Amino acid sequence: MLAEGSDGQSGTSTTPKDWKEKEGCPGSSLLKDLIPLGTEESAMEVVLKKIWELSDSDQRDPFMVADLGVLAFRHQAFCQALPRVSPFYAVKCNNSPWVLRVLAALGTGFDCASQVELEQVLSLGVAPSRIIYAHPCKPISHLQYAARHGVQLLTFDSEEELTKVAQHHPGARLVLRLWTEDSKSLIRMSTKFGARLELCGHLLKSARDLGLAVVGASFHLGSGCRDPHSFTQAIADCRRVFEMSRGVGHDMSLLDIGGGFPGVEGSEPEFEEMARAINAALAQDFPEGAGIEVIAEPGRFYAASVCVAAVNIIAKKAVLQPGGHRKLLYYLNDGHYGSFRVFFRDRFPRMPIVVKEFCSKPPLFPCTLYGPTCDAFDKLFNEEVQLPELDVGDWLIFPSMGDYSAVMSSTFNGFLPASICYIVGPELRYLRRAQGSELGTGS
Ligand SMILES: Cc1ncc(COP(=O)(O)O)c(C=O)c1O
Repeated sequence: MLAEGSDGQSGTSTTPKDWKEKEGCPGSSLLKDLIPLGTEESAMEVVLKKIWELSDSDQRDPFMVADLGVLAFRHQAFCQALPRVSPFYAVKCNNSPWVLRVLAALGTGFDCASQVELEQVLSLGVAPSRIIYAHPCKPISHLQYAARHGVQLLTFDSEEELTKVAQHHPGARLVLRLWTEDSKSLIRMSTKFGARLELCGHLLKSARDLGLAVVGASFHLGSGCRDPHSFTQAIADCRRVFEMSRGVGHDMSLLDIGGGFPGVEGSEPEFEEMARAINAALAQDFPEGAGIEVIAEPGRFYAASVCVAAVNIIAKKAVLQPGGHRKLLYYLNDGHYGSFRVFFRDRFPRMPIVVKEFCSKPPLFPCTLYGPTCDAFDKLFNEEVQLPELDVGDWLIFPSMGDYSAVMSSTFNGFLPASICYIVGPELRYLRRAQGSELGTGS
């Protein structure tokens, strides 16, 4: 088993023993031993076991259990539903070295957004050709790093970016990122990134005049895309750009359909419905046999269901509302400035699992879930949720916490990020690291 992040740094680790005593977390290099799970065991069971172990202790810090085996299932599901699309995992979503290492071994490519993400992926021995630097507005020093390390695929959406690339990375293989209609996505990107179709002809000519090669077109519908037909329109727009590029002299052969796929099963729309819309659009606008390579940048789809989070109630208040109704305020030891920052963008609260036994079905009360810091903004949801009466020391479990959680957590107010314990099921034991040595399983 490997625990990570208790000192706030992704990639640091503790032994299973240290995991109990988080303060002792050394900044050591990656441990080679992951705890192998039995075939019947799940991450949820590991979480419950850990909570049980802590039941006599006052040391009840927040923690997550990450089941790396989930990555193999998600990869299989992705490849089955979208057989023409090669996934380039979006590192920003969960940059744990273990997640990246497993994905590298599974053979995905990577979408990096900065020099540090490039360094992380390259350090695993991933070939630069399996990386796209998919940030349309790059710092010059990061661009120079990409050039020095042979990362050639870069996205752009403006003339100013082309000028920088011509000066600092003239050998780049550029991918033009298009503006998309993403009003139905949970997290919209189109206000910040993407070139309008009307501007694309001009950008393609500018690139040519600067001696730069544009090899493809891309889009990203924003995280949590809720309309499969947004893909249809965006893919049709890319085809227009491919047509334009021929007249300008670029040889385009790469289509990048970005991320935005749902992280958990049962999302609306279902991933399968989205995949059907994408496959149909590809068949129409980029038929097989035309020599077009199609890639995507899924983040959440892979990472969300990897982690289960456990948080503890550190304080509680009961208040009487007008009409004499009781409302409960729970203060948790992880919150908006920790693993839960992404929650404030969700449409609906994600309900936790309550770890407490009741003799009969307990009454529910309107509750506000606050994080541990002094900031009033530090709460998990804006809305109240209905929960039973709980006590200080009780635990709540949140499944599907692997996406945009640890990567976004801070040490604000001195509260350390949740520690993460990595486990691996039998499905991954055969894998080999990108470097060729075996993934350590401790078995
Ligand atoms: C350019 C780009 N690609 C891919 C992603 C991953 O999105 P998701 O995690 O929703 O799949 C993001 C996330 O915002 C992004 O900005």
